[in-house]
Amino acid sequence: MHLPETVQKIAELRARVAGWRAAGERVALVPTMGALHEGHLALVRAGRERAERIVVSIFVNPKQFAPSEDFAAYPRVADKDRAALAGLADLIFAPSVAEMYPPGFTTEVTVAGPSIAFEGEARPGHFAGVATVVAKLLIQCAPDVAVFGEKDWQQLQVVTRMARDLDLPVEILPHPTVRDAHGLALSSRNAYLSDSQLATARKLNGILSRLGGELRLRPVPEVLAEGRAELEKLGFGPIDYLAVAGPETLAPINALVPGRPVRLLVAARLGSVRLLDNIAV
Ligand code: PAJ
Repeated sequence: MHLPETVQKIAELRARVAGWRAAGERVALVPTMGALHEGHLALVRAGRERAERIVVSIFVNPKQFAPSEDFAAYPRVADKDRAALAGLADLIFAPSVAEMYPPGFTTEVTVAGPSIAFEGEARPGHFAGVATVVAKLLIQCAPDVAVFGEKDWQQLQVVTRMARDLDLPVEILPHPTVRDAHGLALSSRNAYLSDSQLATARKLNGILSRLGGELRLRPVPEVLAEGRAELEKLGFGPIDYLAVAGPETLAPINALVPGRPVRLLVAARLGSVRLLDNIAV
């Protein structure tokens, strides 16, 4: 199958996209950090349904990793990723850190609102790093559509808010979380789970679904306290948050209002792996 071309320079990306635009073609962008799995590929397929041309960016963004996090160890498997995108993507944009952040770079995009709670508290500075790189990618590629996974629900809301606030002429297209047969959200970090941890991790989504049902019947703080205790008993911990929030604002919610949807979100460590999941309630 046809292997996509890889370009590393912003000018090359712009030249390819300009050529497609001149031919009247629509362009979709799927931003990633590589180590692609079926979750990423589902986003690429969704992009293909909306545009004639698909760009996948692969950039491990140093600005969204805290010094204590796994930036250096993050998997970089360019050849494998390119093979996975054969027949699916038209172009891979894989800039160097120096291309994205040349000497003297000082601008930062911060989105208040949906960035503040949850991941914002657990990972200070993370969303500024995400918003800055996604703003740059959207401006560099100028796609009609950019696809983001609901797996990272809060990130999706931060990016959507930013695109709206900055009048970026792009549609942010959400894609549902891709899961394994047991409901575990696919993630490249799942590879670090032992067999017994994997069995435990696969219980997480089922627990969320059950808590979601309980939330419709009983007080939010009570259900969340029980949910936390259950997760801890199974071996999850520390639990950064198990919380209910407004789906777009990500403002924490302590009581449900009939007819008003909310999101149930969790981040919990299992061994060395930090698992994230979320569902609609
Ligand atoms: P990364 O973790 O590589 O994820 C790239 C995209 O794939 C994100 O939109 C993420 O939500 C989506 N994704 C990952 N696993 C998924 C799954 N199981 N189901 C559905 N979608 C899934 O998220 C990032 O990279 C970065 O923060 C980025 C946006 C690229 C900015 O650097």
